[in-house]
Amino acid sequence: MNDHSLPEVLFSEQQIRDRVAELANAISADYADGEEVLMIGVLRGAFIFLADLSRRLTVERQIDFIALSSYEDGAQHRGAVRLIMDLRSDVAGKHVLIVDDIADTGRTLEYLKRNLATRRAASVRTCVLLRKPSRHEVPVQIDYVGFEIPDAWVVGYGLDYTDRFRSLPYIGIVDSRVD
Ligand code: IMP
Ligand code: MG
Repeated sequence: MNDHSLPEVLFSEQQIRDRVAELANAISADYADGEEVLMIGVLRGAFIFLADLSRRLTVERQIDFIALSSYEDGAQHRGAVRLIMDLRSDVAGKHVLIVDDIADTGRTLEYLKRNLATRRAASVRTCVLLRKPSRHEVPVQIDYVGFEIPDAWVVGYGLDYTDRFRSLPYIGIVDSRVD
């Protein structure tokens, strides 16, 4: 892909909008009994998904953010996850919904679920827009998944490739695997 070409469409704006609405309905139904949800967006990739999903929920919700990074050794994840920026909220006793852009190796979500459980959240559920099952290295249960995708690097709707393409309105595929 050269610098001027746009990534090939994997999911259009309309497909994303429809699926986000379905996810929001499912989540709203599951928390229906008056529980307040603390949505935790994983920066930076989840910011657009969280913005759209949160506006579609019909249950009471609060929003917070956390920033994490995988240690990397050249191009490969080495597996350890590092906390870059912590939450502002106290999660003790709260019903937490982790919202991330994509589950790749699964290590970010696995780390975050364990971390929040030690802070005595009342419950911890997970929601990702995308999931690459063939890349999972750790078993992690994900409660809400937008789309399962093959092993390829995807961009747009918050996801980047070296900080590019985050603001693309659709999800596109960068043809060669580049991470
Ligand atoms: P993990 O490997 O499941 O821990 O995912 C780590 C993070 O890598 C995700 O939250 C994304 O921010 C990023 N990531 C993984 N795969 C992709 C991709 O295809 N495009 C953009 N970002 C990705
Ligand atoms: Mg991420």
